[in-house]
Amino acid sequence: MIKYSTLKEKLKLEILNGNVEDLAYFTHYLQNHKNGVAHSYEKRAKDYYKTIFEDLSLTSEPELQAMLPIKWDVPFPAPEKPEFTFIDLFAGIGGFRIPMQELGGNCVFSSEFNYHAQRAYEFNFGEVPFGDITKLNTNIVPKHDILCAGFPCQPFSISGKMKGFEDTRGTLIYHVFEIIEKHQPKVIFLENVKHLVYHNKKRTLATIVQHLEEMGYVVSKKVLNASDFGIPQNRERIIIIGHKNTKFDFSKIEQKTKPTLKEFLDKKK
Ligand SMILES: C[S@@+](CC[C@H](N)C(=O)[O-])C[C@H]1O[C@@H](n2cnc3c(N)ncnc32)[C@H](O)[C@@H]1O
Repeated sequence: MIKYSTLKEKLKLEILNGNVEDLAYFTHYLQNHKNGVAHSYEKRAKDYYKTIFEDLSLTSEPELQAMLPIKWDVPFPAPEKPEFTFIDLFAGIGGFRIPMQELGGNCVFSSEFNYHAQRAYEFNFGEVPFGDITKLNTNIVPKHDILCAGFPCQPFSISGKMKGFEDTRGTLIYHVFEIIEKHQPKVIFLENVKHLVYHNKKRTLATIVQHLEEMGYVVSKKVLNASDFGIPQNRERIIIIGHKNTKFDFSKIEQKTKPTLKEFLDKKK
């Protein structure tokens, strides 16, 4: 079984050379080859694999299939026996992916357009996210159980200009709606800054909720603070959950005692 780090070195899979889309197809194919969704990525992945061999003038070309499965020697590998699937939109460096994997989730698609975040994500998970969601061919997004999206918050944040839907970043949520409309995942899991609650006299949030309801979801929402969940930071975020038939009950979430920053700092040697 070949290690991901070995394959990466051998094929010079380096995101620095700007080949993000090919690498996204290729790594998504490697990650998903046994869960039934690989066909979305297969053709481009195999074409890319051939091209690498030609470019690197490698002599023997083992079939890509012959290299699978890969041994994922990355900090956060996918669970061995996944229990559900999810997609990771506006993936950043993977704040959604880590806990979803810990809960038994298999990520079948990721998208993030910031170069540095893409590199960190690849380092963390062995997968290069697809880029700009506005340019995405949504046909490649596979069916999934849970859609996760921490969509950009600057248009709604007090520290931003609060232009909301007038800011092009504010309309990115409509690309998320397009994916929801098509795949009808069982659960929608959205996250944003607390101020989204009050933005544009509460109309922005109402519009988002209304869209989800029109697509057949029962919506629940609550502002949660990271400091109630074992993190030494007052970080308030609105969590919006859409479920196909049940209202999500936030009162059942287990909270932890507030930690202090000191508990997280390295001790002086
Ligand atoms: C609020 S952050 C999400 C952070 C993420 N939840 C994490 O754990 O790191 C929003 C992310 O959306 C990305 N983004 C903004 N516009 C995008 C677009 N058009 N396509 C893809 N990603 C985009 C930004 O680069 C940023 O990383």
